[in-house]
Amino acid sequence: MPKVRTAGLVALKQARQPITCVTAYDYPSALALEKAGIDVCLVGDSLGMVVLGYESTVPVTLEEMIHHARAVKRGLKRALLVVDLPFLTYQLGPLQALESAGRLMKEAGAEAVKLEGGAQLAPTVALLRQAGVAVMGHLGLTPQSVHAMGGYRIQARAKPEAARLLKDALALQAAGAFAVVLEGIPQALTARVTRRLAIPTIGIGAGPGCDGQVQVWHDLHGALPGRGPKHAKAFGGQFQAQVLALAAYAGQVRGRRFPGPDETPA
Ligand code: KIV
Repeated sequence: MPKVRTAGLVALKQARQPITCVTAYDYPSALALEKAGIDVCLVGDSLGMVVLGYESTVPVTLEEMIHHARAVKRGLKRALLVVDLPFLTYQLGPLQALESAGRLMKEAGAEAVKLEGGAQLAPTVALLRQAGVAVMGHLGLTPQSVHAMGGYRIQARAKPEAARLLKDALALQAAGAFAVVLEGIPQALTARVTRRLAIPTIGIGAGPGCDGQVQVWHDLHGALPGRGPKHAKAFGGQFQAQVLALAAYAGQVRGRRFPGPDETPA
Protein backbone atom coordinates (compact mmCIF):
# COMPACT_ATOMS: atom_id res chain seq x y z
CA MET A 1 0.00 0.00 0.00
CA PRO A 2 1.43 3.44 -0.93
CA LYS A 3 2.61 5.90 1.72
CA VAL A 4 -0.22 8.13 3.02
CA ARG A 5 0.31 11.82 2.34
CA THR A 6 -1.87 14.85 3.06
CA ALA A 7 -3.09 15.02 -0.55
CA GLY A 8 -4.09 11.36 -0.29
CA LEU A 9 -6.47 12.22 2.55
CA VAL A 10 -8.27 14.79 0.40
CA ALA A 11 -8.53 12.11 -2.31
CA LEU A 12 -10.11 9.73 0.23
CA LYS A 13 -12.68 12.41 1.10
CA GLN A 14 -13.47 12.92 -2.57
CA ALA A 15 -13.83 9.15 -3.05
CA ARG A 16 -16.03 9.01 0.09
CA GLN A 17 -13.69 6.48 1.68
CA PRO A 18 -13.54 6.85 5.47
CA ILE A 19 -10.14 7.86 6.86
CA THR A 20 -8.81 5.92 9.84
CA CYS A 21 -6.72 7.70 12.46
CA VAL A 22 -5.44 6.38 15.79
CA THR A 23 -3.09 7.84 18.36
CA ALA A 24 0.22 6.18 19.18
CA TYR A 25 2.82 7.07 21.76
CA ASP A 26 5.57 4.46 21.40
CA TYR A 27 7.25 1.95 19.08
CA PRO A 28 4.97 -1.06 19.78
CA SER A 29 1.75 0.93 19.25
CA ALA A 30 3.16 2.31 15.98
CA LEU A 31 4.00 -1.21 14.77
CA ALA A 32 0.46 -2.41 15.60
CA LEU A 33 -1.11 0.58 13.86
CA GLU A 34 1.01 -0.05 10.74
CA LYS A 35 0.15 -3.75 10.69
CA ALA A 36 -3.57 -2.87 10.85
CA GLY A 37 -3.23 -0.46 7.89
CA ILE A 38 -4.37 2.66 9.75
CA ASP A 39 -4.04 5.77 7.53
CA VAL A 40 -3.01 8.47 10.02
CA CYS A 41 -0.97 8.09 13.19
CA LEU A 42 -1.45 10.94 15.63
CA VAL A 43 1.00 11.41 18.45
CA GLY A 44 -1.59 13.25 20.48
CA ASP A 45 -0.87 15.28 23.58
CA SER A 46 -3.43 12.92 25.15
CA LEU A 47 -0.20 11.06 25.91
CA GLY A 48 -0.03 13.28 28.98
CA MET A 49 -3.17 11.65 30.34
CA VAL A 50 -3.06 8.05 29.09
CA VAL A 51 0.71 7.46 29.26
CA LEU A 52 2.11 9.94 31.77
CA GLY A 53 -0.86 10.07 34.18
CA TYR A 54 -1.39 13.86 34.12
CA GLU A 55 -4.88 15.14 34.91
CA SER A 56 -5.12 17.03 31.61
CA THR A 57 -3.05 17.71 28.49
CA VAL A 58 -2.04 21.16 29.82
CA PRO A 59 1.30 20.16 31.42
CA VAL A 60 2.61 18.29 28.34
CA THR A 61 5.87 19.75 27.03
CA LEU A 62 7.40 19.89 23.56
CA GLU A 63 10.25 17.71 24.83
CA GLU A 64 7.78 15.01 25.90
CA MET A 65 6.08 15.14 22.49
CA ILE A 66 9.44 14.86 20.71
CA HIS A 67 10.55 11.96 22.92
CA HIS A 68 7.40 9.92 22.19
CA ALA A 69 7.09 10.92 18.53
CA ARG A 70 10.66 9.73 17.86
CA ALA A 71 9.76 6.29 19.18
CA VAL A 72 6.57 6.20 17.09
CA LYS A 73 8.45 7.27 13.96
CA ARG A 74 10.73 4.23 14.23
CA GLY A 75 7.70 1.94 13.88
CA LEU A 76 5.96 3.71 10.99
CA LYS A 77 6.24 3.26 7.23
CA ARG A 78 2.95 3.93 5.48
CA ALA A 79 0.83 5.97 7.88
CA LEU A 80 1.02 9.76 7.88
CA LEU A 81 2.68 10.94 11.11
CA VAL A 82 0.91 13.92 12.70
CA VAL A 83 2.20 15.29 16.02
CA ASP A 84 0.34 17.61 18.40
CA LEU A 85 1.79 20.99 19.32
CA PRO A 86 1.23 21.01 23.10
CA PHE A 87 -0.25 23.86 25.13
CA LEU A 88 1.68 27.15 24.96
CA THR A 89 4.06 26.06 22.23
CA TYR A 90 2.11 27.97 19.53
CA GLN A 91 -0.37 30.34 21.20
CA LEU A 92 2.26 33.09 21.62
CA GLY A 93 2.22 33.71 17.89
CA PRO A 94 3.14 32.41 14.42
CA LEU A 95 6.90 32.52 15.01
CA GLN A 96 6.65 30.51 18.22
CA ALA A 97 4.46 28.00 16.33
CA LEU A 98 6.98 27.75 13.50
CA GLU A 99 9.85 27.16 15.89
CA SER A 100 7.90 24.45 17.76
CA ALA A 101 6.63 22.79 14.57
CA GLY A 102 10.15 22.88 13.15
CA ARG A 103 11.45 20.98 16.18
CA LEU A 104 8.72 18.33 15.80
CA MET A 105 9.68 17.88 12.15
CA LYS A 106 13.47 18.01 12.49
CA GLU A 107 13.89 16.17 15.79
CA ALA A 108 10.97 13.71 15.66
CA GLY A 109 10.24 13.27 11.96
CA ALA A 110 6.68 14.68 12.11
CA GLU A 111 5.08 14.96 8.68
CA ALA A 112 2.37 17.32 9.96
CA VAL A 113 1.44 19.10 13.17
CA LYS A 114 -1.94 19.62 14.85
CA LEU A 115 -3.02 22.65 16.83
CA GLU A 116 -6.22 23.52 18.70
CA GLY A 117 -8.20 26.64 17.85
CA GLY A 118 -10.10 28.49 15.15
CA ALA A 119 -9.94 31.68 13.10
CA GLN A 120 -7.58 33.38 15.59
CA LEU A 121 -4.93 30.87 14.48
CA ALA A 122 -5.36 31.51 10.75
CA PRO A 123 -2.21 33.71 10.52
CA THR A 124 -0.28 30.98 12.35
CA VAL A 125 -1.54 28.26 10.01
CA ALA A 126 -0.74 30.46 7.00
CA LEU A 127 2.85 31.08 8.14
CA LEU A 128 3.38 27.39 8.88
CA ARG A 129 2.10 26.47 5.42
CA GLN A 130 4.34 29.10 3.79
CA ALA A 131 7.29 27.57 5.61
CA GLY A 132 6.37 24.10 4.39
CA VAL A 133 4.63 22.71 7.46
CA ALA A 134 1.46 20.66 6.96
CA VAL A 135 -1.17 21.63 9.52
CA MET A 136 -4.19 19.82 10.93
CA GLY A 137 -6.74 21.91 12.86
CA HIS A 138 -8.76 20.87 15.91
CA LEU A 139 -12.14 22.42 16.76
CA GLY A 140 -15.01 21.87 19.19
CA LEU A 141 -13.95 20.28 22.46
CA THR A 142 -10.33 21.36 22.57
CA PRO A 143 -8.76 19.63 25.60
CA GLN A 144 -5.95 22.19 26.05
CA SER A 145 -8.71 24.69 26.99
CA VAL A 146 -10.36 22.37 29.52
CA HIS A 147 -10.27 24.98 32.28
CA ALA A 148 -11.64 27.77 30.09
CA MET A 149 -14.38 25.44 28.79
CA GLY A 150 -15.36 24.46 32.33
CA GLY A 151 -14.68 20.75 31.81
CA TYR A 152 -14.87 18.19 29.03
CA ARG A 153 -18.33 18.86 27.61
CA ILE A 154 -19.99 18.82 24.22
CA GLN A 155 -19.40 22.15 22.46
CA ALA A 156 -21.33 24.29 19.97
CA ARG A 157 -24.83 23.11 20.85
CA ALA A 158 -26.24 26.64 20.53
CA LYS A 159 -26.76 28.22 17.09
CA PRO A 160 -24.27 31.13 17.44
CA GLU A 161 -21.55 28.79 18.69
CA ALA A 162 -22.27 26.35 15.86
CA ALA A 163 -22.07 29.18 13.31
CA ARG A 164 -18.75 30.29 14.83
CA LEU A 165 -17.36 26.77 14.60
CA LEU A 166 -18.25 26.57 10.91
CA LYS A 167 -16.53 29.94 10.35
CA ASP A 168 -13.49 28.69 12.25
CA ALA A 169 -13.32 25.57 10.08
CA LEU A 170 -13.55 27.64 6.90
CA ALA A 171 -10.86 30.01 8.19
CA LEU A 172 -8.49 27.12 8.92
CA GLN A 173 -9.12 25.70 5.46
CA ALA A 174 -8.52 29.10 3.81
CA ALA A 175 -5.28 29.48 5.78
CA GLY A 176 -4.02 26.15 4.40
CA ALA A 177 -4.93 23.41 6.90
CA PHE A 178 -5.12 20.00 5.19
CA ALA A 179 -7.67 18.50 7.61
CA VAL A 180 -9.61 19.39 10.75
CA VAL A 181 -10.36 17.30 13.82
CA LEU A 182 -13.90 17.84 15.11
CA GLU A 183 -14.18 16.77 18.73
CA GLY A 184 -17.24 16.65 20.99
CA ILE A 185 -19.83 18.45 18.87
CA PRO A 186 -23.41 17.50 17.87
CA GLN A 187 -23.62 15.19 14.87
CA ALA A 188 -25.79 17.56 12.80
CA LEU A 189 -23.08 20.22 13.05
CA THR A 190 -20.41 17.66 12.17
CA ALA A 191 -22.29 16.74 8.99
CA ARG A 192 -22.79 20.41 8.09
CA VAL A 193 -19.10 21.30 8.51
CA THR A 194 -18.05 18.17 6.62
CA ARG A 195 -20.29 19.11 3.68
CA ARG A 196 -18.97 22.69 3.56
CA LEU A 197 -15.25 21.83 3.69
CA ALA A 198 -13.17 20.59 0.77
CA ILE A 199 -10.59 19.25 3.25
CA PRO A 200 -11.36 16.16 5.35
CA THR A 201 -12.90 16.28 8.81
CA ILE A 202 -11.75 13.67 11.31
CA GLY A 203 -14.16 13.12 14.18
CA ILE A 204 -13.97 12.01 17.77
CA GLY A 205 -17.16 12.11 19.79
CA ALA A 206 -18.74 13.94 16.87
CA GLY A 207 -20.82 11.16 15.31
CA PRO A 208 -20.55 9.30 12.02
CA GLY A 209 -20.85 12.31 9.68
CA CYS A 210 -17.11 13.01 9.37
CA ASP A 211 -14.75 11.98 6.60
CA GLY A 212 -12.80 9.91 9.11
CA GLN A 213 -12.58 8.93 12.75
CA VAL A 214 -9.82 9.21 15.34
CA GLN A 215 -9.60 7.34 18.61
CA VAL A 216 -7.12 7.21 21.46
CA TRP A 217 -5.10 3.98 21.31
CA HIS A 218 -5.53 3.23 25.01
CA ASP A 219 -9.34 3.51 24.73
CA LEU A 220 -9.42 1.23 21.68
CA HIS A 221 -7.73 -1.73 23.31
CA GLY A 222 -8.87 -1.19 26.87
CA ALA A 223 -5.39 -0.38 28.21
CA LEU A 224 -6.66 1.48 31.26
CA PRO A 225 -9.09 0.35 33.99
CA GLY A 226 -12.66 1.63 33.78
CA ARG A 227 -15.07 2.43 30.95
CA GLY A 228 -13.17 5.29 29.25
CA PRO A 229 -14.90 8.29 27.61
CA LYS A 230 -18.48 7.93 26.31
CA HIS A 231 -17.45 8.29 22.67
CA ALA A 232 -14.89 5.48 22.91
CA LYS A 233 -15.38 1.77 22.29
CA ALA A 234 -12.93 -0.81 23.61
CA PHE A 235 -12.28 -3.43 20.92
CA GLY A 236 -10.16 -5.44 23.36
CA GLY A 237 -9.45 -5.73 27.09
CA GLN A 238 -5.69 -5.19 27.26
CA PHE A 239 -5.60 -3.93 30.84
CA GLN A 240 -7.29 -7.08 32.12
CA ALA A 241 -5.06 -9.26 29.91
CA GLN A 242 -1.97 -7.57 31.38
CA VAL A 243 -3.21 -7.98 34.94
CA LEU A 244 -3.87 -11.69 34.28
CA ALA A 245 -0.39 -12.15 32.78
CA LEU A 246 1.25 -10.35 35.73
CA ALA A 247 -0.78 -12.34 38.26
CA ALA A 248 0.17 -15.61 36.52
CA TYR A 249 3.84 -14.58 36.56
CA ALA A 250 3.74 -13.58 40.23
CA GLY A 251 1.93 -16.83 41.10
CA GLN A 252 4.60 -18.93 39.38
CA VAL A 253 7.48 -17.00 40.97
CA ARG A 254 5.92 -17.34 44.43
CA GLY A 255 5.16 -21.03 43.83
CA ARG A 256 8.75 -21.57 42.60
CA ARG A 257 7.44 -22.74 39.18
CA PHE A 258 9.16 -19.93 37.23
CA PRO A 259 11.82 -20.08 35.94
CA GLY A 260 11.39 -23.75 34.96
CA PRO A 261 13.77 -26.00 32.98
CA ASP A 262 12.84 -24.28 29.66
CA GLU A 263 13.84 -20.83 30.94
CA THR A 264 16.96 -21.99 32.81
CA PRO A 265 20.45 -22.23 31.29
CA ALA A 266 22.07 -25.66 31.48
O1 KIV B 1 -4.41 14.38 21.83
C1 KIV B 1 -5.14 13.63 21.16
O2 KIV B 1 -5.06 12.40 21.25
C2 KIV B 1 -6.09 14.24 20.24
C3 KIV B 1 -7.12 13.36 19.62
C4 KIV B 1 -8.06 12.84 20.63
C5 KIV B 1 -7.81 14.02 18.50
O3 KIV B 1 -6.05 15.41 20.02
